[in-house]
Parts: sequence; structure tokens; C-alpha cells
Amino acid sequence: MAIRNLRYEGDEILKKKSREIPVDDIKTEKIQTLIDDMVETMHKYNGVGLAAVQVGVLKRLIVIDLYDDNGPIVLINPEIIKTKGEQEVEEGCLSFPNQFAKVIRPAEVVAEYWDRDGKRIRVKAKELLAQAICHEIDHLNGELFIEKILPGTLEYVEPEN
Ligand code: NI
Repeated sequence: MAIRNLRYEGDEILKKKSREIPVDDIKTEKIQTLIDDMVETMHKYNGVGLAAVQVGVLKRLIVIDLYDDNGPIVLINPEIIKTKGEQEVEEGCLSFPNQFAKVIRPAEVVAEYWDRDGKRIRVKAKELLAQAICHEIDHLNGELFIEKILPGTLEYVEPEN
């Protein structure tokens, strides 16, 4: 496994749309290594989620870890099937270090995706998981949280050393 280089604010790749991964490719070494590297990179930077585009790969692949009992979740070609309600949440992004702002996200989502074993999964998510799924799927469409923040809520927070 290896830490991949993150792409940051201003990098044009972050505005590009990612392509689907053919289901037959999911179990290839190339994709499995990319998944392992993304999880390791997300953990190194204490992120809750990471999209492949943020390590420079335009594939529809995201990893999420809420640091709970479930461990890291891998979502391949994820789609949001249904949304319900709204939540106003504080949000950040590994591509925008130290920047946080409020955004409106759905309170609940139903999403479908392939897992890293090539199994089709349907998940009903709320709160932080719903927020993370929406944030990361936005990345796959070249959309950044900074474009949808509530006006006047952007804060720069220096990390503690
Ligand atoms: Ni992000």
C-alpha cells in the first residue's frame, strides 16, 4: 500500500467528471491497489471520505470511514436513488485543507453501488454517512463543496500541532 498525492484547490482535475469502472475490472489488482491506497491516504489525513479524483484518478470510486465499528466503506459507481429531508452541516474536504463551511445536504439518502468484492449493495444512510456519500459523489461529478456553501459561513481553521 502507498500514500497517494492529494490534489488541492485550484487543480483543474477536481472539476472533471469521473468515469464508471467496468464491473469486471473491480477485482483487478490495479483497482484493488487503488482502493487500498485511497483508504491509507484518507486515514493519513484523518479524512472521513476520499474520491479517486482527489488522488488524480478519474474513476467513480469513493472510500468513506466514519471511524466507527463498520470500518472503511468502498463505493464503486455509486448512485443516489432517493433523498429525504435536509440537514445543515459543517463540512470540509481534504482538497481544501483547513477550510470549513456550512452546507445543506439531504437528511437521508438511499444509494446503490458495487463493493470491492463486486457485490451490488443498497444502503440507506442518514446524518454523517448521508453527508459523506453526497459530498463524495459530488466529487465524481466535478462538483466541490465550496460552490454550495451557505454564504458567510466559510472559516479557516489552523490545525493544532
Ligand atoms: Ni472532498
